[in-house]
Amino acid sequence: MRAWPILLGILVGLIALLYGRELGVDDIDGWRRATRYTARAGLVLFLITYSASSLARLTHGRLVLMVLRDRRWWGLGYAACMMVHAYAFLSLFDTGTAQLPLVVAVGGGAGYALIATMALTSNRRAMRRLGPAWRHLHRVGIHGLWLIYTVIFAARVIRPGSFIIGLYGLALTLGALALRMAARRRPQLPADIA
Ligand code: HEM
Repeated sequence: MRAWPILLGILVGLIALLYGRELGVDDIDGWRRATRYTARAGLVLFLITYSASSLARLTHGRLVLMVLRDRRWWGLGYAACMMVHAYAFLSLFDTGTAQLPLVVAVGGGAGYALIATMALTSNRRAMRRLGPAWRHLHRVGIHGLWLIYTVIFAARVIRPGSFIIGLYGLALTLGALALRMAARRRPQLPADIA
């Protein structure tokens, strides 16, 4: 069953949510942690999808080629995990104690619009219908999400109290970008794989 990364996305998201709830000192802290941890779980799945083709070009490893072949399912697994993030932040706002800054609403909303567009067009029918536009759409989508993560973690670097997590996050997103740039110098993969 090639769709198993979707189950993985839900599972990883739920574990992150429960872990955050467990560590929270009270209900609000629990939902805040659940929101952060589900976002971090989503980041791991995002980076796997974002880096699959670069790693395949650089290493030709069997595992990476398998992920690349099933990249669509990994992307859907990421989308599933981000549904759990949405459940966590909606529950946090439901406590009535957390504010939703305009920049988070706009940036985060744009992120979910990208995730939904890519998830809905991750099938052969949409690929056929959209033709070359499909590749452009998914390229814009994945780089748009990369930008959202990078901005979030850059903001955390300068925000008091979240320097370390910001630094880790930035190292991951910039590292993934460096990987993509390094892979561009390598020969293209055969069309049936890439
Ligand atoms: C309207 C949509 C969204 C809302 C309302 C939202 C809300 C939140 C909230 C309340 C937090 C916790 C902030 C804190 O107290 O530290 C958070 C964290 C986070 N969110 Fe979202 N989010 C949205 C969409 C997204 C999207 C689309 C992404 C990724 C593409 C994302 C990635 C993150 C990350 C990386 C964190 C920080 C985790 C950490 O501290 O390590 N969010 N979000």
